[in-house]
Amino acid sequence: EKGGYEHFMLKEINEQPRALRDTLKGRISHAGDKVILDEIKMTPEEVQNIKRVIITACGTAYHAGLVGKYVIEQLVRVPVEVDIASEFRYRDPLVDKDTLVVVVSQSGETADTLAALREARRRGARVVAITNVIASSVAREADDIIYTWAGPEISVASTKAYTTQLVAMYLLALYLAQERNTLAAGNIKEILDDLKSIYAKAQEVLDDIEPIKEFAEKYHKAEDTFFIGRGLDYAVALEGSLKLKEISYIHAEAYAAGELKHGTLALIVENIPVIALATQQSLFEKMVSNIKEVKARDASVIALAMEGHTEVEKVADQVLYIPKTHPVLAPIITVIPLQLLAYYMAVYRGCDVDKPRNLAKSVTVE
Ligand code: F6R
Repeated sequence: EKGGYEHFMLKEINEQPRALRDTLKGRISHAGDKVILDEIKMTPEEVQNIKRVIITACGTAYHAGLVGKYVIEQLVRVPVEVDIASEFRYRDPLVDKDTLVVVVSQSGETADTLAALREARRRGARVVAITNVIASSVAREADDIIYTWAGPEISVASTKAYTTQLVAMYLLALYLAQERNTLAAGNIKEILDDLKSIYAKAQEVLDDIEPIKEFAEKYHKAEDTFFIGRGLDYAVALEGSLKLKEISYIHAEAYAAGELKHGTLALIVENIPVIALATQQSLFEKMVSNIKEVKARDASVIALAMEGHTEVEKVADQVLYIPKTHPVLAPIITVIPLQLLAYYMAVYRGCDVDKPRNLAKSVTVE
């Protein structure tokens, strides 16, 4: 059942190209210029009337929401808030009929996420659910559902659910941009072109795991690690650090790279592994400076950058290149080396990868 892989997690990481393709299937027009989301039943007027978007979820799904915020704000120019479901449900949230609430849940059964959904609907918001399980509680109670077609996820650590949640977020953002005319048709097509081929780039990343394995072997005894990034890379850094903590039990901090000097730099000591994400062209120079900052404290830096951005080699100890893609889509492929890093770190430490201590796959109690 593990299809020849040692763990479900590794199998599921490797299933991502297929899962990404399935999640896109039928959702892009034949000409490649339009998003088709028939499952969104909002009238054109309702789409026009959206004043705010709130995304709410837990854990990895919340991290997909953070990517969603950047992308929806950038493409649709509507304010987006992201809230942890267990916070949202108890904070008397400001929600009304002009708020679009997006809940994200792989299982569709997470107690806090379901309660957040109910709270949002009670206050008159329309709720779109992004979920992986057909007829789950979240799917049954939402107004609209965008299914991710990841297939069953067995490993407690979420991998293919996350990347397909990202695809669902991109489709939703592009759909809203298209219906509200906030993006030129050419720009929509340009992003869709890259989205259609993202699975092949994911495969390229999966075909080049040796450097990650070596890094994991070298640093698996580390006690503390840092993940730094800016913009979308910061959202991915949070997911990478969660994955590492969850299955290898290594302490990992994710930091917005610009925030380091406001306190955390004190923790950067000799040989501490720092995973620096520098895939965003517009923030690249800033990241190079942040890498210099941590190198000045003798950290061991592995950087992730897009192909062609070789300048980073001058400052980082090691560089992993991800295939070139539209910068907003980079999280889908940037996270894959981080999933693999967490996986191999856990394997080298002898951890029970698929069933990390103290965790359940689906959290149906508070
Ligand atoms: C982390 C992980 C959890 C889940 C979270 C939400 O790898 O799997 O953080 O993402 O418990 O679960 P769902 O998406 O089922 O609501």
